Amino acid sequence: MAKILILGAKGNLGQQLQKVFAVNNEIIAWDRGEIDISDQELILKKISDIRPELVINAAAYNAVDKCEADDQEYELAKKVNIDGPKFLAQACLKVDAILIHYSTDYVFDGAKKGGYKETDEPKPINRYGKTKFHGEKKILELSGSGLKWYLIRTSKLFGAKAENEMAKPSFFDIILEQGRTKPSMEIVDEEIGCFTYTPDLAKATRELVDHNHDGYGIYHLTNSGSCTWYEAALELFNLAGVEIEVKPIASDKLARPAKRPKYSVLLNTKLAPLRGYREALKEYLKLNFI
Ligand SMILES: NC(=O)c1ccc[n+]([C@@H]2O[C@H](COP(=O)([O-])OP(=O)(O)OC[C@H]3O[C@@H](n4cnc5c(N)ncnc54)[C@H](OP(=O)(O)O)[C@@H]3O)[C@@H](O)[C@H]2O)c1
Repeated sequence: MAKILILGAKGNLGQQLQKVFAVNNEIIAWDRGEIDISDQELILKKISDIRPELVINAAAYNAVDKCEADDQEYELAKKVNIDGPKFLAQACLKVDAILIHYSTDYVFDGAKKGGYKETDEPKPINRYGKTKFHGEKKILELSGSGLKWYLIRTSKLFGAKAENEMAKPSFFDIILEQGRTKPSMEIVDEEIGCFTYTPDLAKATRELVDHNHDGYGIYHLTNSGSCTWYEAALELFNLAGVEIEVKPIASDKLARPAKRPKYSVLLNTKLAPLRGYREALKEYLKLNFI
C-alpha cells in the first residue's frame, strides 16, 4: 500500500484518479480548498508533513480562451501551470516522491503531418499552451537532480462530470445539452485530434506507475482514433439517438481568442494503445445518460 496525494482531486480527471488509485492505496485527495499549488511555501510544508510516495497533479488552469483574451487571467494561468508544477517537483524531490503531471496537445503548433511523438519539440501557438509547455520544462529541469517523474500529455477530455461545479464541462457534455434543445448546430470541421475518456486515462496512468513500463519520462495517452470536432459531434448524436442537423464550419468562423493547432494527434509510441474513443463514448453515454 502506498500513500498517494492527488491534487485537483475534484476536477474531471482528478475524481477518476481517486477511484482508480484508491484500490490498495492510502489516498489523500486535495483540491483548491485544501491547497493552492502555486503557493510554494504551503506546498513544501504540506508535502513534507504528509510525505507521500506518489504525487499526482491533475490541478491546472484550463480556460484556453479566457487567458488568451485577458492579461490578468494569463498571469493566473502562469502561476498555476508553471509555478505549480515547479513547486510540486521541488517538494517531490525533497521527500523523494514520484511526480505525475499532465500536459496537453496544445503544446504543439499543429503544423507537423502525421501527429506528434513524445520526443517532438513543443511549439505552442496560444497562451494556455505556452504555460503548459513552460510547466513541462520546470519538471524536466529537475530530472537531472534525481526527480522521479512522469509527464503525461493528453487531449480533449470527457467523462463523468467533475465534483467541482467550476470545472470545465467537456465538449460532448456541452453539445449534447444544446443538441437536445436546438434544431441545428454549426461545429468546427477542423482541428484534428484525439478524445480521451477520463476513466481510461486514470486506469492507464495507474498501469503505467504500477509497472513502470518504459521508465520515467514523457508519455502520450489518449483514446485511439482521431477526428475533427464535427466528426465527433456526428458520432455523439448518432450514439445518443439525437436527431439534429449538424453543419460543418471552418475554425475561423468561430470567434475564439485563442488559436488552436490544426492537427494535434498525440502518438503513443511507448505504451499499449487505449481503446477507440467511439467505444469509450458509448460506455460514457450508457453509464451517464441512458
Ligand atoms: N480538459 C481537457 O480537455 C484537457 C485537455 C488536455 C490536457 N488536459 C490536462 O489534464 C489535466 C486535468 O484537466 P481537467 O480537465 O481534469 O481539469 P479540471 O476539471 O479543470 O480540474 C482541475 C482542478 O484543479 C483545481 N485547481 C485549479 N487551480 C488550482 C490551484 N491553484 N490549486 C489547487 N487546485 C487548483 C480546479 O479547481 P477550480 O475549478 O476551483 O479552479 C479543479 O478542481 C490538466 O493538467 C489539464 O491541463 C485537460
